[in-house]
Amino acid sequence: MRTYLVTGGAGFIGSNYIHYMFRKYDNEIRIINVDVLTYAGNLENLKDIEDRDNYTFIRADITDKDAIQKIFDENDIDRVVHFAAESHVDRSIKNPEVFVKTNVLGTAVMLNCAKAAWELPDGSFKEGKKFLHVSTDEVYGSLPDDGTSYFYETTPYSPHSPYSASKASSDMLVKAYIDTYKFPANITNCSNNYGPYQFPEKLIPLIINNALQGKKLPVYGNGMNIRDWLYVDDHAKGIDMVQEKGKLGETYNIGGHNEKRNIEIIHIILDTLKEMLPENDPRRANVSEDLITYVEDRKGHDIRYAIAPDKIKAEIGWEPETMFAEGIKKTIAWFFEHEDWMKNVTSGDYQKYYESMYNNR
Ligand code: NAD
Ligand code: TYD
Repeated sequence: MRTYLVTGGAGFIGSNYIHYMFRKYDNEIRIINVDVLTYAGNLENLKDIEDRDNYTFIRADITDKDAIQKIFDENDIDRVVHFAAESHVDRSIKNPEVFVKTNVLGTAVMLNCAKAAWELPDGSFKEGKKFLHVSTDEVYGSLPDDGTSYFYETTPYSPHSPYSASKASSDMLVKAYIDTYKFPANITNCSNNYGPYQFPEKLIPLIINNALQGKKLPVYGNGMNIRDWLYVDDHAKGIDMVQEKGKLGETYNIGGHNEKRNIEIIHIILDTLKEMLPENDPRRANVSEDLITYVEDRKGHDIRYAIAPDKIKAEIGWEPETMFAEGIKKTIAWFFEHEDWMKNVTSGDYQKYYESMYNNR
């Protein structure tokens, strides 16, 4: 049975990936989820799989070399899928240091521990061991608003925010391990994700949550910035396909050719909420265009991101499956069904869940 070490599996994409992997492989794989549970890590995301015999949660910090080394010593890890990171641009602008610590040092620790566990005396690596580093298209910088230029795997790195600079640095470390040691790794650079379990500091869940409560919908700058949105399950599938079918040492961009201006996203969410909320739901009265509020722009706000997913399509056969109109409905339906999740996340109550679930184990 193949054993996966997933870092950051209690976060948004990590928890969706774990669900995806158990749906796909069921009892054929074992997953060890290592997460320190920052404000963004939430074990409630994994409630329905936590009792599986082939799933283990370990609370550990990826910057803690001894703790990570111990996990490799005690388990024969076949695959590392490295999600753990500080992930929010606005937080990185306020407090860059923790981004450098987690994203750069944490990645160095993960690489070093995997290398020590997998390296043979002749400097080659044990058969079948693979490391996948999950990264972002934001490392490539910003594209002009021309609708014709794209990020390719060959696009030079030009990060602007402390977040993207820290992710670019972590990518460079992975590339250095590939070049120096022939370390068996891949990098994926994905566009903006949306879907269930996304923390409501990011645009889409924030707008859904605020609109339902009749709170202001903050639009940074003029709302014309463009992001390329991908449904999170499509990303999870892409990660798995790259790890199984990708050429070791290669980078693959993952994106869905789904560019939207921020203001467009907000209008789509408002329209979809109105369409989906039952006539007698009191929240209907809250949902209104009047909530849209233009606020001060983000510092260094990148204009446009857009991925060219040509390589992953040609070499691996991955393509996005979820159209935005369908994905946003699924996402909104999920938030309707998980009002308690949103309440717990916004009140910080989910941290108590960990204490109650894991303190006596
Ligand atoms: P997230 O913030 O929702 O989750 C991050 C997880 O990492 C949390 O569970 C957190 O507790 C954990 N973590 C943070 N610091 C840690 C540490 N020191 N040790 C152990 N665990 C730690 O992030 P996300 O949106 O799920 O993103 C996951 C990965 O995907 C990140 O590497 C991010 O850069 C990348 N990515 C995200 C997007 C996106 O749109 N969200 C797009 C492309 C790539
Ligand atoms: P975000 O979800 O933070 O992702 P990223 O910055 O990694 O792309 O933001 C997406 C876009 O939405 C970005 O252009 C900033 C903008 N934005 C707002 O206009 N208002 C908000 O409240 C937030 C959180 C983001």
